Amino acid sequence: METFKIVTYPHQAEPATDLSAFCEAEAKKAHDFHASFDVYQETPLTSLPGLAAALGVKEIRVKDESYRFGLNAFKVLGGSYALGRYIAKKLGEDIAELPASRILSEEVRGRLGEVTFVTATDGNHGRGVAWTANRLGQHSVVYMPKGSAQERLDNIRAEGADASITDLNYDEAVRLANSKAESEGWVMVQDTAWEGYTDIPLWIMQGYTTMGYEIVKRLETEGAEPPTHLFLQAGVGSMAGAMAGFFSSYYGEKRPFITIVEPEKANCVFRTAEANDGKLHFVTGEMNTIMAGLACGEPCTIGWEVLKNCADAFISCPDYAAADGMRVLAAPKKGDPVVVSGESGAATTGCVANILTREDLADLKEKLHLDENSRILFISTEGDTDKENYRNVVWNGKYNRYE
Ligand SMILES: Cc1ncc(COP(=O)(O)O)c(C=O)c1O
Repeated sequence: METFKIVTYPHQAEPATDLSAFCEAEAKKAHDFHASFDVYQETPLTSLPGLAAALGVKEIRVKDESYRFGLNAFKVLGGSYALGRYIAKKLGEDIAELPASRILSEEVRGRLGEVTFVTATDGNHGRGVAWTANRLGQHSVVYMPKGSAQERLDNIRAEGADASITDLNYDEAVRLANSKAESEGWVMVQDTAWEGYTDIPLWIMQGYTTMGYEIVKRLETEGAEPPTHLFLQAGVGSMAGAMAGFFSSYYGEKRPFITIVEPEKANCVFRTAEANDGKLHFVTGEMNTIMAGLACGEPCTIGWEVLKNCADAFISCPDYAAADGMRVLAAPKKGDPVVVSGESGAATTGCVANILTREDLADLKEKLHLDENSRILFISTEGDTDKENYRNVVWNGKYNRYE
């Protein structure tokens, strides 16, 4: 029986995680790099007062990453920044000296030579890596897990990548990409870290903090109060770790209550928190969830280092919660704008909408300390990246708890 599960996490008192990689100055560096691309635009931080009233909380804001670089997901922030940092290191320069105008120039390309970047991805990350490699005049190879949507494959190929859908799960596809990198002399650009592979994943995570930087600066410009609750969806936990690290570093003791949300079929971060034994816990096998971006079974080591100190709660949820979130955001209360949010993007909204409207989930509401004073922040990390499924969910009501 599919169900919601929660673990509230006793923070590890010592040693506290070093958050300097996610401080404001580092986030600004990533932000300034992204802002140097001519496609850059800050993504909307949409306020949903009608939804907040309906759910009995004070405020709900959604950072809408469907507008990111015309790529329909936040992921390009990580891939592009990692490639930028890789090139900066190769050339012995500071990333601050390598804005888009220089990094895309013939001069830099000439000094760098030909490079092939390789990655494994459900779609969004690979599209970001392919997009960046394409603009840099370089090659990319992308391996996708079994069951990946044709539309996501087509979008990656449209960026010039040599992309294919394998018959492996996500974690196995990562190992394939890694062995190809070793045998072919390619550069592995993976959005998760493991022992001995940390530079590029850390740069990817730092790239994600552009979202956090935009959010806090936008709130300050609007004179709005910071959120009391931040909900972050996790695949391997790189994005969640980066954002939790940034918000914890930026707000210090006033940081929001941070909750991590995962699909129950791929809840490796939840299991790691639940076991609380100092080890990472994996999920293996098919991980058959509609939240394709979250279908990962092995936590990112760097992400977990941050989350074990900075996350307050972990939730494992059924697929219909993500579908509910897509519908809630697609059919807003009168006066609220529409947010087009895909399966992984809407998981957090759907989870919270269930928790705040169902008697049988009242204990989760209490454990999350949600009440009429709560100011909630969601990150809709993708738009309708699988349009066929988006319509099946939003128009045809597929994946609901009454099925
Ligand atoms: C849309 C979307 N949201 C969230 C995530 C989760 O990010 P992470 O794997 O860093 O936890 C992904 C990962 O691919 C994604 O594509």
